[in-house]
Amino acid sequence: MSNSKEPRGQLVTRIVAMPADTNANGDVFGGWLVSNMDLAGGIEGRRRAKCRVVTVAIDSMQFLKPIRIGDTVGCHVEILRVGRTSLQFKIEAWALSFYAEKHQQVAEGIFTFVAIDEQGKPQPVDRA
Ligand SMILES: CC(C)(COP(=O)(O)OP(=O)(O)OC[C@H]1O[C@@H](n2cnc3c(N)ncnc32)[C@H](O)[C@@H]1OP(=O)(O)O)[C@@H](O)C(=O)NCCC(=O)NCCS
Repeated sequence: MSNSKEPRGQLVTRIVAMPADTNANGDVFGGWLVSNMDLAGGIEGRRRAKCRVVTVAIDSMQFLKPIRIGDTVGCHVEILRVGRTSLQFKIEAWALSFYAEKHQQVAEGIFTFVAIDEQGKPQPVDRA
């Protein structure tokens, strides 16, 4: 877990957790958060590689704090490694409480994306 008091990386997406995003317990569903982190990584990957990218691996995922309905969740993307065709990102999710004006880290994970061509085959991230 990161010890930083501030988010690391570029703020790529912000979204409000809505009632439809809850699980059977009434808490925000973990899959919703992973999906949003994946989307943020995909946006950053596409920007960096200047082509379509796909998620090839999520190597770690930690849910650190619960998210409440109405919280604004920001996904921050930091590049860890640029491979030949792959990009590895650390993605942090931070929630701004609607009620308490409290900003805290709620999750983090390591996501790897692969740059792909029109046929869906890997292609170099850095092309001439
Ligand atoms: C991603 C995909 C295009 C890779 O194709 P592939 O023929 O297996 O590609 P390669 O073996 O050449 O690997 C491509 C890159 O991915 C990396 N990679 C492959 N599997 C990996 C894994 N499990 N973890 C991390 N990196 C991985 C390789 O190291 C390589 O990186 P590099 O070029 O920077 O060294 C293919 O596996 C695929 O289409 N997967 C489905 C993707 C998808 O649908 N994602 C959404 C899931 S809901």
